Amino acid sequence: MLLQIPFHHTFDCDIFGPLGIVEWFGSSRPIWKAHAPMSAQIEDYYPADIFNRIKEFADTKETPFLVVDTKMVDAAYDELRSAFPIAKVYYAVKANPAPEIISLLKAKGSSFDIASIYELDRVLELGVSPDQISYGNTIKKAKDIRYFYERGVRLFATDSEADLRNIAKAAPGARVYARVLTEGTHTADWPLSRKFGCQNDMAIDLMILARDLGLEPYGISFHVGSQQRDIGAWDAAIAKVANIFERLRSEDGITLKMINMGGGFPGNYVMRAHDLKVYAEEITRFLKEDFGDDMPEIILEPGRSMVANAGILVSEVVLISRKARTSLHRWIFTDVGKFSGLIETMDEAIKYPIYTEKQGEVEEAVIAGPTCDSADIMYEDSKVSLPLNLAIGDRMYWFSTGAYTTSYSAIEFNGFPPLKGYYI
Ligand SMILES: Cc1ncc(COP(=O)(O)O)c(C=O)c1O
Repeated sequence: MLLQIPFHHTFDCDIFGPLGIVEWFGSSRPIWKAHAPMSAQIEDYYPADIFNRIKEFADTKETPFLVVDTKMVDAAYDELRSAFPIAKVYYAVKANPAPEIISLLKAKGSSFDIASIYELDRVLELGVSPDQISYGNTIKKAKDIRYFYERGVRLFATDSEADLRNIAKAAPGARVYARVLTEGTHTADWPLSRKFGCQNDMAIDLMILARDLGLEPYGISFHVGSQQRDIGAWDAAIAKVANIFERLRSEDGITLKMINMGGGFPGNYVMRAHDLKVYAEEITRFLKEDFGDDMPEIILEPGRSMVANAGILVSEVVLISRKARTSLHRWIFTDVGKFSGLIETMDEAIKYPIYTEKQGEVEEAVIAGPTCDSADIMYEDSKVSLPLNLAIGDRMYWFSTGAYTTSYSAIEFNGFPPLKGYYI
């Protein structure tokens, strides 16, 4: 059984990894083509026993749905903990808020990064203690801050004066950390900066104001962008943070205690990234270079890297067509789309490996979803080579879809129900 790894990318050579060398082909638009096999084994993404277990379960269900292997989540947590023994883990619930995942991570000792009162209610219902929660969203209503505070949460992110003043009123005495802007958005497949964070000088002003408002200026956070393939992005961000720590200490007598390094660690998609171990070694080195023996408390907020690889989204081919008699590619419409879990294919940002059981000669295809919205096309610029004998009714297996799929799925757009998730 072969996995189709078929995108024509604008690859970064340094992250090309297992697919081998890339070569330029003269063309009206840039196309890179792999020398190495255009397909990979399932084992490139899943141990055979795990894949078989997921597949066996999937065979009993109607598409579309996501299956998450919780053993892989368990292992991802352990891997992160052993790679970063100096860090405390706050799982970013937004990546996959399934109770099965929250309960599993709670049992393993994780804390939680929470973005809304709804996520808060869910984790509290599952028995998470408020002192294991950080309200990481910098955009929040005053009444929501109060809601968190009344339930015992004492750790808040901020990146603006108005929000900080709201925190001072609604959560008196709480610990606050300022989120700074970071570079490296172009090397993250799902960038997060610009909307969140502020410049260094403003972060300093906010920490001083926090103290003056009776809050505890606790630390600095950043997020280098989700699916960040350039480990150097952490180097620049940590250096910025060190500078803020030092300026606040020497100029204002404020000693910050914590760095929240957010997420950004990778899932296994078509464009491969380094192993987590390499990230950890490098980032730990950056921290040691900048902080030496005076290491503050380190927080990580992994979302994607904790759950992405553990999930396989299973869909069915609804229709296959060509737009012209002479068309060189097909359109493959499937029963899952941008609005039912695959929103991260927006701008074709995240390229999920797609596997089908059919094998043989392949042809490029546009892959689109089932709704009446013409934005519901997952891959058009980066066409996917799928077997010519793929037929209506066949299943498509979207690998590494455990993160940001069920949680992004729309409610009833075109009447389609939200994406189902099964946790085995
Ligand atoms: C504040 C915060 N922390 C952590 C995360 C998780 O990041 P990732 O999924 O890249 O691990 C996000 C993602 O949006 C975030 O906004």
